[in-house]
Amino acid sequence: MRIENEKILVLDFGGQYCQLIARRVRDCKVYCEIKSYKTPIETIQRSGYRGIIFTGGPNSVYEENAPKCGKEIFQLGIPVLGICYGAQLMAHLLGGRVKSSDVKEYGKTETEFDTSAVLFQGQPKQSVTWMSHTDYIAEVPEGFQVTAHSQACPTAAMENREKDLFAVQFHPEVEHTEQGTEILKNFLCTACGCKGDWEMSSFAEEAISQLKETIGDRKVFCALSGGVDSSVAAVLVHKAVGKNLTCVFVDHGLLRKNEGDDVERIFRKQFDMNLIRVNAQERFLSRLAGVEEPERKRKIIGEEFIRVFEEESKKLGKIDFLCQGTIYPDVVESGTGDAAVIKSHHNVGGLPEDIGFAGIVEPLRDLFKDEVRRVGLELGIPSSLVWRQPFPGPGLAIRVLGEVSQEKLAILREADAIFREEVALAGLERSIDQYFAVLTGIRSVGVMGDGRTYENTVALRAVTTSDFMTADWARIPYDLLEKVSNRIINEVPGVNHIVYDITSKPPATIEWE
Ligand code: XMP
Repeated sequence: MRIENEKILVLDFGGQYCQLIARRVRDCKVYCEIKSYKTPIETIQRSGYRGIIFTGGPNSVYEENAPKCGKEIFQLGIPVLGICYGAQLMAHLLGGRVKSSDVKEYGKTETEFDTSAVLFQGQPKQSVTWMSHTDYIAEVPEGFQVTAHSQACPTAAMENREKDLFAVQFHPEVEHTEQGTEILKNFLCTACGCKGDWEMSSFAEEAISQLKETIGDRKVFCALSGGVDSSVAAVLVHKAVGKNLTCVFVDHGLLRKNEGDDVERIFRKQFDMNLIRVNAQERFLSRLAGVEEPERKRKIIGEEFIRVFEEESKKLGKIDFLCQGTIYPDVVESGTGDAAVIKSHHNVGGLPEDIGFAGIVEPLRDLFKDEVRRVGLELGIPSSLVWRQPFPGPGLAIRVLGEVSQEKLAILREADAIFREEVALAGLERSIDQYFAVLTGIRSVGVMGDGRTYENTVALRAVTTSDFMTADWARIPYDLLEKVSNRIINEVPGVNHIVYDITSKPPATIEWE
């Protein structure tokens, strides 16, 4: 990426939303860097940041091992914005009082703002914010003023205008905070004086030249799944090293209907890449036999993937690098740094230590899904592929809840194909970001014809989201749901109940496992 002199530091205190903050800053066209809270103050001072944002984090400032920075950071003359834990830390370090509470304030919260405050200029006096905290700032430090409050939180925001210090208890980076982007913009432009003219268009160029440098004339192996992420990663590497890239497409038997053949056609014909398709269905299913626990399934699939690649690479001779389409949400939700672990996505958390390649290249590691799509289009990848809905690496194995079997996969594959077909026919492919069927493992009683049935419950899941970190359930028209339900019942033997999932993320995740 092009480094501008107008840059912001996101100081990571272990929050889930660290990269989301960085990404919102990029959205405001300001370049930013993420660094650990342990970064020495001299480094920060030398780097010429226009502003610093403290992220949230799962700790309480009173915990013994709570992540903390020194309070000299507030004396650098650089504007600071503290978010959630970052806000409490600012208050704590500067002599305010943070109090623990028995109740958690969580979710969408009506909040009242002082619109003469720097962060809230030009905004409504009342709007919804996203709160997720237990501790709160009971007394602001000397020189600060309270600039927002909610019913449960006396200090939803504070500022010390003279010293350019700002803090918000809520999460402006989360979409549910209605004025979130405006609040960040006010910090970046008004408090820090940024112009906001940084562009992301140089990402592909920079990434390709970095890949050339890292890989040189060595050989790369790419795990191609046919999803957006691995496709964009493969095309980037292909542009950097051409035929030194060999793509391996592992058909693990956990793909959607017809998917394997589609992927093979697109990459061999359209992109003229070295592509090997490995039919490893049996192997994956036998390793998954008897396994019910989702994390175990992910780990097994991740390991098996790597084994298959190793075997294929041995056939090819010496291969130096493995390219993976890991994107930021995969990284953060697997728990990097001090963030809490939620799920180990197989392409990150499940990698065995003894992997037989010299190194891994992950050119999309800092990007969110919609940013990956923008890069994909810039690279000339057809929009049908760029807009293909995401599909998890472990595939249908995490949509068949509990033990996976050939029979269950067959039921799920048919139900899922019907759902996807009807969504496409209704013209909703682009407005729903991810939609699929889940075989819930619940067997339910039904009646068909004159007989009692005791069969499977299929759940339909459809969400709208821009970054997959938070998501809302899609308000699909009833008519469409009815059509899908009728078709699945009539066309897929073994299913007698269909339910629609109406939970957002959080508290649920998008996948059921
Ligand atoms: P969750 O279920 O965590 O999903 O809300 C967020 C996004 O990540 C995808 N996902 C995965 N992708 N390996 C992947 O490559 C995985 O193990 C995995 N689990 C979830 C999910 O489909 C959604 O797009």
